[in-house]
Amino acid sequence: MDTQKIIDAEQSYLLQVYQRPNIVLERGQGCRVVDSQGREYIDCVAGIAVNALGYGDPDLLAALHEQADKLWHVSNLYHTEPQARLAKLLCETSFADRVHFANCGASANESAFKFARRYARERAQSAAGPFDKYHIVAFTNGFHGRLFGSLAATDRPKYQQPFEPLMPGVRFAAFNDLASAAAAMGDDVCALIVEPIQGEGGVHPATPEFLAGLRQLCRQHDALLIFDEVQCGLGRSGALWAYQTYDVTPDMLTAAKPLAGGLPMGAVLMTQAVADAIHPFDHASTFAGGPLVSAVAAALVQKVSQPAFLQATRANGDYLRQRLAELKSPHILAVRGAGLLIGLELDIPAAEVVSAGYRHGLLLVGAGPNVLRLAPPLIIDRPEIDQVVERLQAILGDW
Ligand SMILES: Cc1ncc(COP(=O)(O)O)c(C=O)c1O
Repeated sequence: MDTQKIIDAEQSYLLQVYQRPNIVLERGQGCRVVDSQGREYIDCVAGIAVNALGYGDPDLLAALHEQADKLWHVSNLYHTEPQARLAKLLCETSFADRVHFANCGASANESAFKFARRYARERAQSAAGPFDKYHIVAFTNGFHGRLFGSLAATDRPKYQQPFEPLMPGVRFAAFNDLASAAAAMGDDVCALIVEPIQGEGGVHPATPEFLAGLRQLCRQHDALLIFDEVQCGLGRSGALWAYQTYDVTPDMLTAAKPLAGGLPMGAVLMTQAVADAIHPFDHASTFAGGPLVSAVAAALVQKVSQPAFLQATRANGDYLRQRLAELKSPHILAVRGAGLLIGLELDIPAAEVVSAGYRHGLLLVGAGPNVLRLAPPLIIDRPEIDQVVERLQAILGDW
């Protein structure tokens, strides 16, 4: 099929929930993708913070091929070796004692909400009175997914209203505002969910005092602290987990996007205290943690958790931020972020810069109306970063 035929078929047969440019991506290698017309782009989107190892990583391919030859899917009714290996690896590289697998970021967050409610109920069983400890506190500008529970915790009236009623029991507080969080907390709260670095909301890192204060508030009210590291976790912040850069440990952490190197997978990492409240058949999924995705994820976590890999991510992230700060454009208001999750705040619409990116061989994505988000594969190197910055300069230079 030629390019236009593919686009026509997509527009005739696919539910139109995406707005796509007139390009058809065909293959990728390293940090670059090539479209059906043979045009090459440096990928600063990486599947929206998914393809941490870029395209064609030999270790991911080897893990995929080896497992594909053995076993793709069996039910969670049975043990499989890759799932056990991955769970052990995730626990050994984090605060967690136990892991539960999900299929994406939204379903990981919804699993975490269920576990928080179950935990609260278990602890309340001996307490007298009606059970009202089911509320969840989430934050303005946060993003946790588009299913009914995760959407309820996502502060976007535009995304929420057409689908109401959503999951009840969510309260919002202002991000990076401890007084607002304290006002939203109460003994009727079972969990608080926060992104240590907000991604979709415009790349806003939490302040250390804010996260430390949330930890304290959760202790005070016997609520669980959930860090949503779906976007900022697994190396993107320059540490394996963003919480490690804050010295604040959550009770649960949700991960997804890069976990299986581009295959769909999510996970909830938790302490033993949380795990103790969850019992057989409380929760389940047909596909989650299947042997194929688990084998690929184990290869990814092995690689991304190496100190030298994380050190390179931090160094390249610092270099990219420094180079972006040197861009000559009156339209840049701020450069912020951590590791290789970087926001360039503009006074012009990010969508227009994204469009110009295609003409300059760059895949870009916005985060909110006027923030350009740079989340390239974590394997990007300095010469490629220089090329990205040169192309951005060409785009913004005569805007
Ligand atoms: C922080 C965060 N949480 C959750 C999600 C939802 O993930 P998914 O699209 O895999 O459901 C996203 C997606 O962008 C995200 O950035």
